[in-house]
Amino acid sequence: MVLAVKTVNLRIGYLDEEEEKIQWAVRGVDLEIQEGESFCLVGESGSGKTTLANAIAGILPPHAVTQGKVYIFDKLVVDDSSRNYNGVRGRIVNYIPQNPGTSLNPFLTIEDHFYYVLRDLYKYDKSKSKSIAIETLSKVGLTSEILDYYPHELSGGMKQRVLIALALASNARIIVADEPTSSVDASLRAGILGLLSKLNKEYRVTLIIVTHDIKMTSAICNRTAVMYSGEIVEIGKTSIILQSPKHPYTRMLMECVPILGVEKPLKPLPGEPTRIFEDISWCSFRERCPYASVECKTTPSMIPVGDDESHFVKCWRFHEVA
Ligand SMILES: Nc1ncnc2c1ncn2[C@@H]1O[C@H](COP(=O)(O)OP(=O)(O)O)[C@@H](O)[C@H]1O
Ligand code: SF4
Ligand SMILES: [Mg+2]
Repeated sequence: MVLAVKTVNLRIGYLDEEEEKIQWAVRGVDLEIQEGESFCLVGESGSGKTTLANAIAGILPPHAVTQGKVYIFDKLVVDDSSRNYNGVRGRIVNYIPQNPGTSLNPFLTIEDHFYYVLRDLYKYDKSKSKSIAIETLSKVGLTSEILDYYPHELSGGMKQRVLIALALASNARIIVADEPTSSVDASLRAGILGLLSKLNKEYRVTLIIVTHDIKMTSAICNRTAVMYSGEIVEIGKTSIILQSPKHPYTRMLMECVPILGVEKPLKPLPGEPTRIFEDISWCSFRERCPYASVECKTTPSMIPVGDDESHFVKCWRFHEVA
């Protein structure tokens, strides 16, 4: 098995001007993603998903502070404060942003988008980039007709497909998609997810999907990590996590979304992820946790759940979460 992504004790922070301290958006993440996996990062807004995804995709803002390591296919791209994604960003790992509307240049045709990306990456000329554009657009269900269109002439779903085609054209082995369906119509969501899943299955592209919607994970990802306040608090096969969530937070996430075929009252999540400025020595979910007790005053470690070798949870009392 080849590792597409590996992070070692990764911490990412941003200076909070008001507090004059670093807010740690990602805290001590150790993660391994195999080549060809489809992997979801799930959690509420503010839990650190985008920051972690951006570190993998090589698009952290310059003011972000990094500690620890990130490897993309064996290449060390983050080594504490030094970050070097040359030859990786855009080529090996590509990113599909949340809002396709603002990521395409309104003054360029779709054909030109392909040309400029492929010229910059591989020095391809117009005719070579056009033939690659036609080939990859067909893989995402679009015809060559749209090559002459400008982004504003396309629907949201078509723009999202163009971005996926651009990532494919660049030969990306890893695609990171941040909330890929949040800006498209509900009717188009299944199509976009189906397309990403096809790329994963047919072309073995490693997929990393960021979502706040835990039920979306089952549609596409074979493994899921649940993030809370910058940490991975539960990780394992998606089917097992959805059937038998072990972290009280995962359970809460599931209770606030409708699940097809399951009738249940929806409980909104009270509170929000805690913003963390210093190392803490207690469980970050303690204030919101219905199971919290005296042992939760110490930080839980990642504990194997035992129902599957890949299922781990960061909670002292996971046995009691039924
Ligand atoms: N570019 C940034 N500059 C400063 N703070 C940021 C930046 N991006 C994210 N944050 C902060 O980091 C935390 C995690 O954010 P983010 O990674 O976007 O989480 P999520 O994707 O789960 O919503 C939030 O508190 C957010 O305000
Ligand atoms: S360690 Fe304690 S506070 Fe944290 S999630 Fe588990 S039960 Fe809740
Ligand atoms: Mg986000």
